[in-house]
Amino acid sequence: MATEKTFYLETFGCQMNAHDSEKVIGTLQQEGYRQVDQEEDAGLILYNTCSIRDKAEQKVFNRLNDYKKLHKAGKRFAVLGCVAQQEGEKIFERAPYVSLVSGSASYRKLPAMLARLEAGETRITGLDDRQTDETFETEFTARQNPYRGYITIIEGCDKFCAYCVVPYTRGKERSRGSNSVLAEAQKISDLGYSEIQLLGQNVNSYRDPEGKLTFAELLAAVGQVGGIRRVRFTTSHPRDFTRDIVEAIDAYPTLCDHVHLPVQSGSARVLKQMAREYTPDWYLERVSWIKAARRPISLSTDIIVGFPGETAEDFIETMDLLAQVEYDCVFGFKYSGRPNTPALTMIDSIPDVEKAQRLQALLDRQREIQRVNYAKHLGQVMEVMVEGMNPARGQVTGRSSQNKPVNFTCSQPIAPAPGSYAQVRITATHPNSLVGEAV
Ligand code: 5AD
Ligand code: SF4
Repeated sequence: MATEKTFYLETFGCQMNAHDSEKVIGTLQQEGYRQVDQEEDAGLILYNTCSIRDKAEQKVFNRLNDYKKLHKAGKRFAVLGCVAQQEGEKIFERAPYVSLVSGSASYRKLPAMLARLEAGETRITGLDDRQTDETFETEFTARQNPYRGYITIIEGCDKFCAYCVVPYTRGKERSRGSNSVLAEAQKISDLGYSEIQLLGQNVNSYRDPEGKLTFAELLAAVGQVGGIRRVRFTTSHPRDFTRDIVEAIDAYPTLCDHVHLPVQSGSARVLKQMAREYTPDWYLERVSWIKAARRPISLSTDIIVGFPGETAEDFIETMDLLAQVEYDCVFGFKYSGRPNTPALTMIDSIPDVEKAQRLQALLDRQREIQRVNYAKHLGQVMEVMVEGMNPARGQVTGRSSQNKPVNFTCSQPIAPAPGSYAQVRITATHPNSLVGEAV
């Protein structure tokens, strides 16, 4: 009797990676593999990796070290994703027990790579460079998220921000046809999902290869798919953020009241060094469109502190921008030099303690801004999509359309299922979450 083919997969990094994993899992299942919950039980162990910052990259090598003794038991290892693409065959030197290394731009070749693995080959690579025009579309997506259906609409990135590995790890920008996106949206709805998240490293740089729809039109069309109640999209680049996106959100209630618009820095000088191709004023103009919308749209952002050459004055400009925009959520990062990127040739001049202090000051300031922003919801009744339970607190957890976490109590004996909706009255507010009761 043939032994059963089993796999364990762990994902690091962004939502694009989480969704890539859903497609990889579907492909493996199609090839006859069964997913297991523990490394120990798997014949094939896969890590879908992230290399956005140094710490993220270290994680996979730590994991490989932890588990290398399992190799003796005849297990095979595969490294997928951004570290795989970035390090390529060097991974075989560093971790000789790894048999397969593949970047995301080569996933469409996974069935063939798996066949070679099964035939006993040990150094299999999928390292298509950034020139590929192919996207990874599969009908075998094994959706793991119980309440949110992801759809990749654009892969890769052509922006080449000075600090960023993504253009090198995910290859050049290539969009999926709008017909195929809409067909997948319908399929997701038929599966019972009512929330869709459109994904891309630069989602709003979308160019329909069929020439039919702009990004804003595609958003509107997805928002009109029967059964869909919430549409989100991430990540937007300020350079490609057009006014019709705000108009679409205003016009279609199914498009969520939230835009994630990474600014990275509030200093014109640093933005120039980062090759972001906009100034703070350009960015703030887009913010003013969002704030002028008829619906209250929440705004979140990413900020890097301690970019090479960032002075105390540059940092104050970032703090000023924070106060001006009054974000609802900020993801702050200390700059970390990345292989292949132009910023690596600049002197990483800010000591780590200084980066840490700037980051702390930024997050402290933002906490106070959010305390005020979130307090405005006190007494409101809002629709919350249920994501899970916090049994310790006896609370249901979920999110508002604005993407704010809401924890609430409800009198029903059975907890509402992930993906269902509740009307919740807000009874208390915190800087990072709202508390309420179902009405
Ligand atoms: N160092 C620190 N943060 C980075 N990011 C991207 N590259 C780096 C880097 N080299 C941050 C950016 C981006 C987010 C996903 O990660 O803020 O928007
Ligand atoms: Fe990490 Fe960026 Fe790759 Fe996502 S695209 S996995 S954030 S390096």
